Amino acid sequence: MISLKTELEKQLKFSSRNLVTKLVKDDCMNGEEMKKLRQDIHECRLCDLWKTRNNPVVGEGSLTAGVMFIGEAPGYNEDQQGKPFVGRAGKIFDELLSSIELKRKDIYITNILKCRPPGNANPSPEQIKACLPYLDRQIKIIQPNVISTLGNFALSYIFDKFGLKQEKISSVHGRIFTVSNLIGAKKIIPLYHPAAATYNPEMKGLLLEDFKLIRDCL
Ligand code: URA
Repeated sequence: MISLKTELEKQLKFSSRNLVTKLVKDDCMNGEEMKKLRQDIHECRLCDLWKTRNNPVVGEGSLTAGVMFIGEAPGYNEDQQGKPFVGRAGKIFDELLSSIELKRKDIYITNILKCRPPGNANPSPEQIKACLPYLDRQIKIIQPNVISTLGNFALSYIFDKFGLKQEKISSVHGRIFTVSNLIGAKKIIPLYHPAAATYNPEMKGLLLEDFKLIRDCL
């Protein structure tokens, strides 16, 4: 007679094999959809920014990440390299990530705008409106458990998308907002933009504290 222990071991092996198969399948499907999205963004002419960009910045990281960070828009360095957060703010972001023992490959990071506004101007309402469907597609593909907004523009959009009352970043940063939608419950953690810490050690302290919440939610 097969012992309960053997039977349980068999079942466990079976379900972990199934789980691995599912994760690999999810990753492949996400990969295909992200490839199409990448192509659409590279061909995008929905606002004027395509005329001045050197490279669109789609985003990067794990397609099955538990946490997705959303910044504002590419700056000079990001536009040159086609990668998010590779300038001064990116250096601070990497420090914040490593403070909770995460690496870029463990997370997904993108922006509200995929192309650089010349002179690092604030994103205009028209640019944001044109670009948001790309961010919506990214959220759908990755389905992160935690969305962490970096700065005011991402805060405003994500609060609106998930039906939360608009609030100032100073009163919501470092708090966890749990929301439900068709794809399940999510946690939203608003944070100050890392660029705000460039010359302000106090702000860096706040960000370090707030980042701990992300670690606790993963
Ligand atoms: N600031 C942002 O909001 N995004 C970047 O990619 C770089 C700087």
